[in-house]
Amino acid sequence: QWAYLNGQFQPLHETKISVLDRGFLFGDGVYEVVPVYNQQVFEWPAHYARLERSLALTHIPNPLDQQAWLALLNELIQRHPWPHQFIYLQITRGVQTPRDHLPAAELIPTLLAYTNPLAPIDKRKVSQGIAAITHADLRWQHCDIKAITLLANVMAKQAAQAAEAQDALLVRPDGRVTEGSASNMFLIKDGTIHTPPLNEFILPGITRLVVEKLCRQHHIEFIERDIDQAELSTADELWLASSTKEIIPIVRLNHQPVGSGQAGRLWSQMFDLYQAYKNR
Ligand code: PDD
Repeated sequence: QWAYLNGQFQPLHETKISVLDRGFLFGDGVYEVVPVYNQQVFEWPAHYARLERSLALTHIPNPLDQQAWLALLNELIQRHPWPHQFIYLQITRGVQTPRDHLPAAELIPTLLAYTNPLAPIDKRKVSQGIAAITHADLRWQHCDIKAITLLANVMAKQAAQAAEAQDALLVRPDGRVTEGSASNMFLIKDGTIHTPPLNEFILPGITRLVVEKLCRQHHIEFIERDIDQAELSTADELWLASSTKEIIPIVRLNHQPVGSGQAGRLWSQMFDLYQAYKNR
């Protein structure tokens, strides 16, 4: 297994960075997770646009141009035998000493990329769904940046595990549901898909974007609006969506069944549309 670090491919398990890296000391960095199907990068323009935006908002210089990024990803993919993969890429602000919250001028960003095998998705298995809990959204007010600082997400996931659930729906103090611990959320009611609007409280997910596109193509009503946690118990279906998990039904929430307690009809339709879109 290979990693790319600052211009060089090297064995992943021998790849090391400095303890003075601002990513390590301050969580001062951004990342992307990009799926690969049949050795082809999925939705790269959208992932790249989001990466550029995360870099711009944090004032971290982009170490490569778009073509160099794509060449790097393709070489990384081809160095591995797996047809389906997910690439992790991370850019931190770089190495600095002495320690200072204020970044020094002209730091050289640290670029790490490596890839992981992605198991093929089995509809029967996914249709069993997951159990979730609601949990306080303890994150900051710039969740639209794909920042490497994920402590609140990790804690939500731990809370889910402690409640014998697989994930958490995050809820802001005003009762608005934002997203899952590492996914966007959708509430289905009377054949319509509802999802929170894009703002600083959620990550603009690429899977969410594809779901929106498929809804438009197939005349399924898709509404972006605030969702209050009180609505969750009235939903016909609840879904989570991300690049690595695709679209998964939540069948139990806070130990109560969601809708019929089984994966819903619209989930099944969207799952099939998503597979067809991946394989187009
Ligand atoms: N997470 N919201 C959050 C907080 C996320 O971490 C993610 C993805 C998403 C969905 O985005 P996308 O559809 O582009 O994957 C939404 C990745 C997979 C991760 O951190 O591993």
